[in-house]
Amino acid sequence: MKTLLDDSAGSGARARKLSGEVLSIRGGRPLSGRVEVKGAKNLATKAMVAALLGETTSVLRDVPDISDVKVVRSLLEVHGVTVTDGEERGTLLLDPRGAVSAHMEEIDAHAGASRIPILFCGPLLHLLGQAFIPDLGGCRIGDRPIDFHLDALRSFGAVVEKLPSGIRLSAPDGLHGADIELPYPSVGATEQVLLTAVRAKGITELRNAAIEPEIMDLIAVLQKMGAIISYEPNRVILIEGVDSLRGYDHRCIFDRNEAASWACAALATDGDIYVGGAKQQEMLTFLNVFRKVGGDFDVHEDGIRFRRGGALRPVVVETDVHPGFMTDWQQPLIVALTQAQGESIVHETVYENRFGFTEALRQMGADIVVHPRGLAGGARRVPRRELEQAAVINGPTPLRGADIVVPDLRGGYSHVIAALTAEGESTVRNVGIIRRGYEKLFRKLDTLGADFDVIG
Ligand code: EPU
Repeated sequence: MKTLLDDSAGSGARARKLSGEVLSIRGGRPLSGRVEVKGAKNLATKAMVAALLGETTSVLRDVPDISDVKVVRSLLEVHGVTVTDGEERGTLLLDPRGAVSAHMEEIDAHAGASRIPILFCGPLLHLLGQAFIPDLGGCRIGDRPIDFHLDALRSFGAVVEKLPSGIRLSAPDGLHGADIELPYPSVGATEQVLLTAVRAKGITELRNAAIEPEIMDLIAVLQKMGAIISYEPNRVILIEGVDSLRGYDHRCIFDRNEAASWACAALATDGDIYVGGAKQQEMLTFLNVFRKVGGDFDVHEDGIRFRRGGALRPVVVETDVHPGFMTDWQQPLIVALTQAQGESIVHETVYENRFGFTEALRQMGADIVVHPRGLAGGARRVPRRELEQAAVINGPTPLRGADIVVPDLRGGYSHVIAALTAEGESTVRNVGIIRRGYEKLFRKLDTLGADFDVIG
């Protein structure tokens, strides 16, 4: 196995342009070597928002160099937070003492495709008594409404006003503790409640909360700031509001989505990838599926090594909230399943439109049928929710190069992996989207021996 230092260094085999939006990929080569994963996108961005709640500077470590972080950084700056880079790579210092209200147009201009602005509401209501949020972006993977967020904010005493350009919130009488039951254990809505309740007057009880490891890490951040948060069995979180919070010093939990993505890349391309920084505990569910598909892995102190253990086998999986199989893992897994012998089924139950990326895989030769309303006659697999679609994958099918356009973050990563698995040359467009969540993607691909050029 090729051993390489980290994501700051490519293979050096040849000079390579490593930025752009269009890749030309020559597939059919196993990806082998070592890559490092840093802090989780889905924690770092929320911990950055939490810094707004402190009265002193916060220090966040292992922050990934991705565009979602840049978006949140500039949103914080628009709101008067001073953000500077620390000496250690990937460290941010966030000083909220100059926090001010920002104009809707300014927020809009900096929000880009991000959904994070919605999480500014609670902290801004506490600090300034009002908040604005523009119409939100994010990946096009379903309706992605914000009704749970707004209902929760109303329960705390916020007044929500819909404007043509977005939403204005105010808290004329301050925010008070609330009794909230989420209709679904939404990650974002749980974070919304946490970020609001920690400074609200009184006690908040949140039922049917999301309990993803990134949420637990956000709770750890808030506790460092002085918050009092406890959790009970059955998705119940209790928050006792406090009068003030201070800054934190925190190292982000690793990005298990990125780790799972590289694991699937090893599986699909028949490669051998050591993911530095990956940890077993937060990936138990993924690792079980990885093994059932025919993958093999070794857990080490500083990471996990992933490769095939033999021929790939079909699986049936359904996405779910933690501790289930994450919706963000199914896309790269499906690429590997196109190489498994037999029929696999992936049920998507978190988002209503997250199989769009399979169209490009079909174009490349995969045999995938998407059932937008789930499999006829099958019992509903996740009774908590009406929503379900299924993708049936029959393999193995050789993949061939194609001209494809990236639709969203996770779908886009899987397109790149499919192109690397395919025989022949592919053109993959709109790869900029993948930078929202994958740090130094091109460098890492280079490190792993991928044969590609950035052509646009
Ligand atoms: N939902 C509502 N109303 C709401 C909020 C959510 O109906 O007010 C629905 C959504 O439409 C969706 C489901 O609830 O069908 C789950 O949404 P959730 O709120 O849990 O997702 P999120 O907070 O918007 C985060 C991650 C996603 C990840 C999901 C599920 C961030 C920035 N995003 O989204 O990550 O897929 O949780 O774990 O943390 C990604 O990284 O590519 C990504 C999309």
